[in-house]
Amino acid sequence: MTTILDGKALARQLRGKVKDEVTQLRAAGHRAPHLAAILVGEDGASQTYVNSKEKDCEYVGFESSVYKRSADTSEESLLDLINTINKNEQIDGLIVQLPVPKHINATKIIESIDPDIDVDGFHTLNVGKLSINEDTYISATPFGVIMMLEEYGVETKGKHCVVIGRSNIVGRPMSILMSQSGRDATVTVCHRHTPDVGTYTRNADIVIVAVGIPEFLKPDMVKEGATIIDVGITRVDADNKRGYLLKGDVEYETVKEKCGAITPVPGGVGPMTRYGLLHNTLKSYKKKLNL
Ligand code: GUN
Repeated sequence: MTTILDGKALARQLRGKVKDEVTQLRAAGHRAPHLAAILVGEDGASQTYVNSKEKDCEYVGFESSVYKRSADTSEESLLDLINTINKNEQIDGLIVQLPVPKHINATKIIESIDPDIDVDGFHTLNVGKLSINEDTYISATPFGVIMMLEEYGVETKGKHCVVIGRSNIVGRPMSILMSQSGRDATVTVCHRHTPDVGTYTRNADIVIVAVGIPEFLKPDMVKEGATIIDVGITRVDADNKRGYLLKGDVEYETVKEKCGAITPVPGGVGPMTRYGLLHNTLKSYKKKLNL
């Protein structure tokens, strides 16, 4: 029997705990945690993500602010905005939704966020801390995946984990986390220049796929009984009411028959990512208030 790693149910449960904690904090007279998001331009997916984040905040009792700026906004005005938010003692977390328009240097923007409120964990200081196993904000998706593996009791010690993708947001931090002391996996990182990825994944106990290519991982690339974590979520055209379907990086129906555990798309990693951001915002808030 394949275990379905139900991120939706797990995130619901974890969100409930955050909500209870916030209720207690408020009852004790503390202010609500506050997450701010900056959204530049009109990208549909980015708008959807930011809306979800607002909804999650409302559910758990966080305050949230969304600063919307037009696609032609200047880098300088964004840096000014970030600087103002950095100084606002009432704001615990700041994220700049990516991607930003091409005329804006994303690295410069991320580096201008105060690392203490960088709840995405994208700032070099926080990435550096992650790489030497110091306390930091683990970015939301890798954090969500780690939580899911822990909560479902997936053994990582001494296991071979193949991470496909080496992005700053998912693949790279994921590979660092899996090899860290305490998780103790042996990690192989595959990427666009890896010839025959299947050679590696067929020997993997855990495969984490984050390539953004719908149904990239096929059953012949998977070892019997392996744990499969699908980070991908791509809209593909479909003849339905919405006009699209959401597809992961794994050929779900066929891989499900062969592996031991698998995350569905949607309802797997996505909800856990959303939980990750709430977790980090609460962490920042508690640090700020010395709680
Ligand atoms: N764009 C895609 N994923 C993310 C994320 O986790 N954080 C931000 N800020 N932008 C994103």
